Amino acid sequence: KSEYFEKLSNVDGLVLYKCFVENWDKVMAFQARPDDILIATYPKSGTTWISEIIDMIYKDGNAERCKEDAIFNRIPFLECKKEDALDGIKQLKAMASPRIIKTHLPADYLPVSFWENNCKMIYLCRNAKDVAVSYYYFHLMVPAHPNPGTFAEFVEKYMNGEVPYGTWYKHVKSWEKRKHSNMLFMFYEDMQKDIRKEVIKLYHFLGKKPSEELVDKIVNHTSFQEMKENPTTNYTTLPEEDMNQKICPFMRKGCVGDWKNHFTVALNERFEMHYEKEMKGSTLTLHTEI
Ligand code: PPS
Repeated sequence: KSEYFEKLSNVDGLVLYKCFVENWDKVMAFQARPDDILIATYPKSGTTWISEIIDMIYKDGNAERCKEDAIFNRIPFLECKKEDALDGIKQLKAMASPRIIKTHLPADYLPVSFWENNCKMIYLCRNAKDVAVSYYYFHLMVPAHPNPGTFAEFVEKYMNGEVPYGTWYKHVKSWEKRKHSNMLFMFYEDMQKDIRKEVIKLYHFLGKKPSEELVDKIVNHTSFQEMKENPTTNYTTLPEEDMNQKICPFMRKGCVGDWKNHFTVALNERFEMHYEKEMKGSTLTLHTEI
């Protein structure tokens, strides 16, 4: 427990990294612009993947332009505060429109100006078990997290919301409740199944016209392998003390169903019972069957 309190904090009922707390009031007062595009996700749901796709759409399929800077500078992370270099608020204030913004905040904690300005929002969802696996490795490699213990121990914390951003269930349901015509719900598993279809969907949602050639370019540039090798998307430009990729690469496996290699039969049963209870009433198809 003590390491938990050393690394994490509880702000207005939300579990957050301690270093982010400094910016919290500024985040809540953040002024969104009507042409901002918000990418909202629970951590480890494919944020980096969809961010790169959207940036490619806005840069007319020009991969070289995307490669000019690291993804966390092109698409600032709203609530992030890590010294001066990674300060979402500071980065966003200095940025020309249209801004593409990343957040992991549940909908109830989103700065009100995003709703007031009717900004376009994309919520990307990934099945809860694969997220648990990905988040576990992220805990091991990023020292801002408390030690997750064994995978089974971590899953308990994940189910109880003793991880940054709280429970997956509350997060997904918070966004589901706030669904509106300017919000697109997407699923990591759909992207894995038919990426062209999902890229075209994004084009239409963003009010842009896709072409065969553009879609080809985007699909190639944002494949798992390309993004794993690209220093502007694989986070290798971060210092080892912030993210230790010797323990595990940020671009780890990039697949659906890795949970099967991590959940025992008993843990899976326990997780599913809890899941059923927590997700009662949700109408989303959440790909837990995969
Ligand atoms: S973060 O830290 O919350 O922003 O992480 P996030 O980007 O949301 O999620 C990381 C997981 O997404 C996988 N990923 C991809 N999968 C398929 N294709 C592409 N292009 C891609 N890019 C990132 C990444 O590998 C992490 O999942 P796991 O299961 O750990 O491999």
